[in-house]
Amino acid sequence: MKDKSILLGVTGGIAAYKSAVLCRQFIRAGARVQVVMSEAACEFISPLTLETLSGQPALVQMFNRNRSGVPHIEVADAADLFVIAPATADFLARTAVGRASDLISAVTLAYRGPVLAAPAMNTNMWEHPATRRNLETLRTTCDWRFVAPGSGDLACGWTGPGRMAEPIEIFEAAEAMLEGDLCGRTVLVTAGPTVEDIDPVRFISNRSSGRMGYAIANMAAQRGATVVLVTGPTALSPPQVSELVQVRSALEMRAAVMDRVKDCDAVIMVAAVADYRPEKMSEHKLKKGPGEKERAIKLVRNPDILEELSKLPNTKQQPVRVGFALETEHLATAAREKLKMKKAHIIVANLATSGFGGTDTEALIIDDAGREEPTGSLSKTSLANRLLDLLIARDWQAD
Ligand code: C5P
Repeated sequence: MKDKSILLGVTGGIAAYKSAVLCRQFIRAGARVQVVMSEAACEFISPLTLETLSGQPALVQMFNRNRSGVPHIEVADAADLFVIAPATADFLARTAVGRASDLISAVTLAYRGPVLAAPAMNTNMWEHPATRRNLETLRTTCDWRFVAPGSGDLACGWTGPGRMAEPIEIFEAAEAMLEGDLCGRTVLVTAGPTVEDIDPVRFISNRSSGRMGYAIANMAAQRGATVVLVTGPTALSPPQVSELVQVRSALEMRAAVMDRVKDCDAVIMVAAVADYRPEKMSEHKLKKGPGEKERAIKLVRNPDILEELSKLPNTKQQPVRVGFALETEHLATAAREKLKMKKAHIIVANLATSGFGGTDTEALIIDDAGREEPTGSLSKTSLANRLLDLLIARDWQAD
């Protein structure tokens, strides 16, 4: 953070009061902060508060005859990172269509560096398809990162998602974007189990908790990567990532991965994907027949997503493919076989006794250069960091 220039955008929501704390955190960390506010933001927090904390005039008006130069271009050019907190639904909408109707949106349009936005709004506004679409536009076409809002009591009296993330979360996300050793990298992580439906009330699944995949996604994001997390259903609250894709079945997971793999530097397949699914899901609940002693459900093979990734047409940059292998015996042999069969670059193998559910694990990491590294007992967070270090060590090379 030291000597970095942060452009802090504040738009008009009640969470604007938290931007003062965020501003203070940036200043304390040694950054320079230039505040730019919408007129509506000034209804919630005085520019004087942010001016006093940042030591710089807070910019609000597009036109100011007492000032020379072109402020929206000057501040846009000078910043290393643009943090918008809170980002209201209207601001996101204006920006998604490229409006420059006030100073803050003109600055946004003129700015060319990394952007981190912390949306804050009422639950219904947050969940509205228009807001979802605007967010998606900014994420995919402008490469914006978001610190997703938390869930809880909102100022409007509602309870639900929409409350702006805490200043410390926004600060840490900003820090990672500026300083993390995975800055500029995109990592796709799959996590959790898949659920294969038999009928509307029954399914086949497994005991994967999602902890390992979430730990990797979390650490990669904290170290500055753009993280896409494709997750099956879990009981955990997901980490702050650039894109969270919630899926249910192996087929849904495959579609989500294939749609997003193009621009990734690494694909880390931690999910416990079901090998088989019922041939067809019954539309209605299956009933037991009178005297029926047995019932056979025909299962068909699911595609192997990891293996399929190795068959993608050769593009300029192939992602490094990392697989996980959960075994009940012969760990090393199974890991070597999987590395070969699935044409993976790295396999992380662990025993079912230590791999499922808990916060600690013990693994054997093997790679395509024949290296084998037993990790000993360690936390899933440490294993996540070790794996990310290995990706850096191989310079993200797939071959
Ligand atoms: O199930 P198996 O032990 O073969 O899984 C090893 C690796 O392959 C894991 O990384 C898992 O995510 C991946 N896999 C997959 N598609 C499947 C089954 C497993 O991508 N259908």
